[in-house]
Amino acid sequence: MEQQLKVFPILVLLLFQVLLVAAQTDSGDFTALSSLIQSWKNKPSDWVGSDPCGSDWDGIRCTNSRITELKLPGLNLVGQLSSAIQSLSELDTLDLSYNTGITGTIPREIGNLKNLNSLALVGCGFIGPIPDSIGSLKKLTFLALNSNKLNGNIPRSLGNLSNLDWLDLADNQLEGPIPVSNDQGQPGLDMLLKAQHFHLGNNKLSGPIPPTLFNSSMILEHVLFDNNQLNGSIPSTLSSLVNTLEVVRFDRNKLSGRVPSNLNNLEKLSEIYLSHNELNGSLPNLNGMNSLTYVDLSDNNFNSSDIPSWVSSLKDLTTVILKDNQLSGTLNLSSGYSSSLQLIDLQNNDLTNLELGNQKLNFDLRLAQNKICLENGASEKSYCKIPQTIPSYSTPTNGCSPPSCSDNQIASPNCKCAFPYIGNLSSRAFSFSNYSNTSYYKEIEQSLMDAFRKQKIAVDSVSLSNPIKISSTDNFQLTLNIFPFQTDRFNSTGVSTTAFVLSNQIYKPPEFFSPYFFIGANYEYYGGEPKGSKSSHTGAIVGAVLAVLVFLVLAVLAGMYVVRQKRRATRSSEGNPFVNWEQNKSSGAAPQLKGARWFSFDEIRKYTNNFAEANTIGSGGYGQVYQGALPGGELVAIKRAGKESMQGAVEFKTEIELLSRVHHKNLVSLVGFCYEKGEQMLVYEYVPNGTLMDSLSGKSGIWMDWIRRLKVTLGAARGLTYLHELANPPIIHRDIKSSNILLDNHLIAKVADFGLSKLLVDSERGHVTTQVKGTMGYLDPEYYMTQQLTEKSDVYSFGVLMLELATARKPIEQGKYIVREVMRVMDTSKELYNLHSILDQSILIGTRPKGLERYVELALRCVKEYAADRPTMAEAAKEIESIIELVGVNPNSESASTTETYEEAGVGDAKHPYANDDEFEYSGIFPSIRVEPQ
Ligand SMILES: *[C@@H]1O[C@H](CO)[C@@H](O)[C@H](O)[C@H]1NC(C)=O
Ligand SMILES: *[C@@H]1O[C@H](CO)[C@@H](O)[C@H](O)[C@H]1NC(C)=O
Ligand SMILES: *[C@@H]1O[C@H](CO)[C@@H](O)[C@H](O)[C@H]1NC(C)=O
Ligand SMILES: *[C@@H]1O[C@H](CO)[C@@H](O)[C@H](O)[C@H]1NC(C)=O
Ligand SMILES: *[C@@H]1O[C@H](CO)[C@@H](O)[C@H](O)[C@H]1NC(C)=O
Ligand SMILES: *[C@@H]1O[C@H](CO)[C@@H](O)[C@H](O)[C@H]1NC(C)=O
Repeated sequence: MEQQLKVFPILVLLLFQVLLVAAQTDSGDFTALSSLIQSWKNKPSDWVGSDPCGSDWDGIRCTNSRITELKLPGLNLVGQLSSAIQSLSELDTLDLSYNTGITGTIPREIGNLKNLNSLALVGCGFIGPIPDSIGSLKKLTFLALNSNKLNGNIPRSLGNLSNLDWLDLADNQLEGPIPVSNDQGQPGLDMLLKAQHFHLGNNKLSGPIPPTLFNSSMILEHVLFDNNQLNGSIPSTLSSLVNTLEVVRFDRNKLSGRVPSNLNNLEKLSEIYLSHNELNGSLPNLNGMNSLTYVDLSDNNFNSSDIPSWVSSLKDLTTVILKDNQLSGTLNLSSGYSSSLQLIDLQNNDLTNLELGNQKLNFDLRLAQNKICLENGASEKSYCKIPQTIPSYSTPTNGCSPPSCSDNQIASPNCKCAFPYIGNLSSRAFSFSNYSNTSYYKEIEQSLMDAFRKQKIAVDSVSLSNPIKISSTDNFQLTLNIFPFQTDRFNSTGVSTTAFVLSNQIYKPPEFFSPYFFIGANYEYYGGEPKGSKSSHTGAIVGAVLAVLVFLVLAVLAGMYVVRQKRRATRSSEGNPFVNWEQNKSSGAAPQLKGARWFSFDEIRKYTNNFAEANTIGSGGYGQVYQGALPGGELVAIKRAGKESMQGAVEFKTEIELLSRVHHKNLVSLVGFCYEKGEQMLVYEYVPNGTLMDSLSGKSGIWMDWIRRLKVTLGAARGLTYLHELANPPIIHRDIKSSNILLDNHLIAKVADFGLSKLLVDSERGHVTTQVKGTMGYLDPEYYMTQQLTEKSDVYSFGVLMLELATARKPIEQGKYIVREVMRVMDTSKELYNLHSILDQSILIGTRPKGLERYVELALRCVKEYAADRPTMAEAAKEIESIIELVGVNPNSESASTTETYEEAGVGDAKHPYANDDEFEYSGIFPSIRVEPQ
């Protein structure tokens, strides 16, 4: 037996070899691929058998029996990119984009893929640093790692990628300097002489923009360094990109000094963004930039006296944004201006004069908050008014009348009901400002359709909607729906080929939308029938027969192996908490668990890569939270108690017993626990879309429209109702807040962090006297005064949460308390109760948020001073249901919500769901109150 088991892995390999004699796939590649995907979840259903090349597995392409392409974007894959990837040594293309469930670090071994030409890992869940070894991919031309959570420095080894054309590292948390080569012979980005794209925006890069980064041997078209912490001045060497440079974004940094005067020789430059810096001196002279369309110099310290002449003389100029400076003097348009002008925004300067002569204003001129608009009667002038937001747009139908679709299907522009592939299409430099001119949208729609046709992808039509300029990034974002042709869903081939066109920049947008990026939402595609039986190759048939035989042998062997492992496991009793509890009589009998399992310390250590830093997803007073993957690929969040927050054995047992009995779709469920080697760990299901707080603040990139907000409210209310009324014993949460509401793949709300020693003891039903615990801003004042805890305290916090959802403001912000602010502004005689100014502006875009008045009324009932005046959680849930019905949505439908992300992710410090570091405890009657950090 012992002998047999040692031989087991060798035997497996041998059998595969036998099998593969008949298969087309190189055996080494098949072994590597199997190992790579073994722990992945949600694999396409045609990934069966042992011959990916011969049987055309979805997304996998081969040349001469070697695997050369893994094109797997948008397939909802869950798992990690393991080091096994290194053995696919002929790989040319690797694309895992938009699989948000692919997490962990990018393995160092990726550097062994010497033939890799294109690497796209856009919008996944990668964490940790970019490995240095990436500089060994000498053939790489396309590298897109944007929209992950990568940190650390930009490795200077990237300078060794002498064939690189496209470099996109935007929307991560990269820090440190932009590396340039030095005289010690170390490489840097200045050596990328074939690069046309440096997209490094939305990171935490610091230090100066190195002057040696640009020289006339380079052919850069797009240089995007926006939203970092770069300082120093703008290097004059930028002007050496005279023949190629089209878009520059240096906005949202800490750049200072003057703008170098030689920049105006950049004849090809079309868009320049320098806003939100500390640039000074007079406005740069841009005469000479003959291709210029879009200029944003706002929010700097420029102090010219008159507005320079290029504003009216450059021929292609559409947009000039100079607001928030110290410009004085006159805007003189009397000798005419270019007919392409759409917007001049000079708000918040010191202008005293506007000279129009005989000219009419054919563009949008904004002069509010200038001296000129303070004169008598000036406020009536159109240019003194505060401008409107972007008008809504949604692709109209092609002359047909839209059907009403069931089952959350959506009507395509051709009036067919289907499930489109949805995502956010964002321009990093949209060069127009006339948003009511829908011809721009039409042109994008047309160019998308052309691209799909050219790639022979069966697309019925595309639609665009929800145009929005994200204020923190200035990116222009549209929701893109791509409808499948003659079917109501894409299959896995359909979705991955469609996504690939966007992740690999095969789609080329019109100039005015370029450069762009796309982030696809999770999509439920058709699996398709497992293949194999259809195959006509004799080889494949022989293979299939062999496969069955091999399978039988393997099954027997595996069975024996499992039995043996089990025996071994039961023999070793140390580490089994059931045993520990029995031995330690003081803690009573083994815990009674329903559905939750125990894990050994070693298992957890393995699942978390030895508690690797890279797996940390949160930390706080209680200890650390790690992300882990179970052997089946299931992701979990592991809460590891620190020394101070350990409970006694009895308390810990009581807690897991209780948590294991709590099962509700709106509550984060306990998968198991570990109680060994002096550790206490709780293993929870992993909830992929982060906290509600991160969504509301724009950190997580989840877009919350009004209906989603209503549904999240309902989910939280139902979870709490369960805790209050159906859990036995009942549980008072005590710390309801937006960072304790998590969102799953379908944006269903799940309440987290309940049950931490907060049980209601039966005999004390009604109230519990306990140390006051909670978070400022959400805390029930009655509980705080009396220390009598009841379910109504949760209701109070829930009311605050509702107001937070409607306003996207923190409960206490700049010393203002949301409850009081809403009451102060509210006027029930007015439209939307006069709350426009305080509501989250994004829910006001487009259609009016229906039911908002009733929503706010309910919230205010929940925060009544006396607990007795507040509704129960069940009553609140009922009212929200009826509001949702009023909106015309079925409150029990789930899949209406898909995950749309927008490109604010990566801004600031991501904070994880399970982190709880803003929690604090009061003690005594007059506690010192610590306000939540802002
Ligand atoms: C870059 O390439 C050179 C030459 O191949 C090599 O000597 C050097 O070690 C590489 N540098 C890095 C940082 O990878
Ligand atoms: C530009 O920089 C690269 C890398 O430092 C160098 O190889 C090249 O010779 C430089 N070109 C010019 C014109 O200075
Ligand atoms: C830029 O910031 C760094 C810190 O990141 C600082 O050491 C340096 O002095 C700053 N330079 C300028 C020119 O402000
Ligand atoms: C412009 O900024 C630079 C760098 O911060 C500073 O040294 C200089 O004094 C400023 N000039 C003016 C005119 O404010
Ligand atoms: C701009 O600021 C500088 C430094 O404060 C000052 O010397 C100069 O006169 C100002 N220019 C104008 C036009 O106000
Ligand atoms: C997927 O759909 C396309 C187009 O509808 C079809 O041609 C193809 O055969 C399908 N593939 C599978 C594996 O079902």
